[in-house]
Amino acid sequence: MRHLLFMAVLSALLGIVPQPEKVEEMKGNFRIAGATFNCEMSLDRESQNLISEFADRLAMISDRTVSFAPSPTLRSNAASGLLKGVCFLLDKDKISGEYSLEVTPKYVLVFASDFYGFTYALQTIRQLLPPAIYGTSPAPGEKWVLPCCKITDKPRFAYRGLLLDCSRHFFKVEEIYRILEIMNVYKLNRFHWHLSDDQGWRIEIKKYPMLTVAGAYRSGTQIGRERGSSDGIGYGGFYTREEIRSVVAYARKLGITIIPEIDLPGHMQAALAAYPELGCSGGPYRVRTGWGVSDQVLCPGKEETFAFIEGVMDEICDLFPSEYIHIGGDECPKTEWEKCPDCQARIAALGLTSHNGVSKEQRLQNYVTERVQKYLASKGRRIIGWDEILEGELAEGATVMSWRGTAGGIKAAAAGFDVIMSPNIYCYFDHSQSTELSKEPLGPTQNPKRAIPLEKIYSFEPLLNMEAGATSHVLGVQANLWTEYIAEPSHLEYMLLPRLLALSEVQWCNKEVRDYDRFRAEVAGHQSAILNIMGYTFRPVD
Ligand code: ACM
Ligand code: ZN
Repeated sequence: MRHLLFMAVLSALLGIVPQPEKVEEMKGNFRIAGATFNCEMSLDRESQNLISEFADRLAMISDRTVSFAPSPTLRSNAASGLLKGVCFLLDKDKISGEYSLEVTPKYVLVFASDFYGFTYALQTIRQLLPPAIYGTSPAPGEKWVLPCCKITDKPRFAYRGLLLDCSRHFFKVEEIYRILEIMNVYKLNRFHWHLSDDQGWRIEIKKYPMLTVAGAYRSGTQIGRERGSSDGIGYGGFYTREEIRSVVAYARKLGITIIPEIDLPGHMQAALAAYPELGCSGGPYRVRTGWGVSDQVLCPGKEETFAFIEGVMDEICDLFPSEYIHIGGDECPKTEWEKCPDCQARIAALGLTSHNGVSKEQRLQNYVTERVQKYLASKGRRIIGWDEILEGELAEGATVMSWRGTAGGIKAAAAGFDVIMSPNIYCYFDHSQSTELSKEPLGPTQNPKRAIPLEKIYSFEPLLNMEAGATSHVLGVQANLWTEYIAEPSHLEYMLLPRLLALSEVQWCNKEVRDYDRFRAEVAGHQSAILNIMGYTFRPVD
């Protein structure tokens, strides 16, 4: 007991977020400035580049020469205890993302099985160094040493995501890079990019140019929480194909997969403004200026709607190498489908009926989901959908993103479907970080109970109330940054930070390792210094 307590105190001193699985601190230091970096010859090119870039950065910031070279004798040196410098070796027994790190006065030894493991090992090393390592100016006066320690570490969940809504407000590529960079620091690995919604279509599609000519711009934006209001100021923007490709490539270097979302068949009013023939009534439609859910949705009664979806998905698959494509599926009102002769003819032709509390129009949405799922499967891709896709019949191979609490996720996992937990009561970062709403930026609700302070997101246990046999279906956890009330990058960062750090411990750490007091102290200290030097806007810890 005493020993355990001692270890806990020591690990707290290292100040790493997310807290590694096992940390043991020893006496002494390793001088890293001026060190040689070596790796096994057999390390893949991407891992070698990663190490080389880290060595370059350390050289620049510490203002000392740091060399890097693959070494043919590294493994035999390791076996005979002749290591020197910072050494990176392969250990094929480790799972993806797992690493070990040993720091002694003579050498630093890193083992991992893949690029992700080396990425996380280097992030941990970075957190053990002075915060200046996160900056851009030389800081030769800092103490460029690593404390002697032994760390073994691996992620609890394989999917560690963050959603950014770029439809309600548009964020330039430079800001996307900053979000990816901070995700990288805290070992997140999935960026869910919400690229289309009622209030703006944000991705260039060659086959459907009007999506960005007309669908990317609205005539104004709702003022505050006042429904029906508009500031009358034209607003919009979109990402070109070149920009998308550079974001995807940049994310890849940081070990982050981008999962694009094209939300369908609801949340499509901006696309309808561009191509009104895809709606039930034929329009005209305009890009929505206010928040809330539009009744105007895609018409699945018409074949051309599916041709449109497939044409868009062809280009999405071309731009995004991700195995998963998010197809939305949330909040699709059925009022238009109930009135639409084409939709009703489709329902009749398919023999869909209302039964077991599921309407025939909900079953028509199942048909849409299944058709898109099959189409994407034919291209080697898998779908993720919001938990509404559970209503009725769930398409084979679909992964459910549980946002209306965790019940949908629990049900889907029990039925053998993969699940990502993103319950709105814990994971919606557009909600206030304090129950004192008047002291915080305007958000989506006036109910202080809906606030998500740092401690609340930290307390989220993704596997609570889940049967033991179902837990392996929980791929991971995601927070969602919806942007109805967030127009500026500094506000965006303020909502994200430091809650992203708490999220990272929910995603990465085993329950036993999580400790809010330790975490809070680290955020208030070393982690705030990191965020400051990287120039992020963040909410100070209470
Ligand atoms: C959602 O918040 N409509 C997924
Ligand atoms: Zn219709």
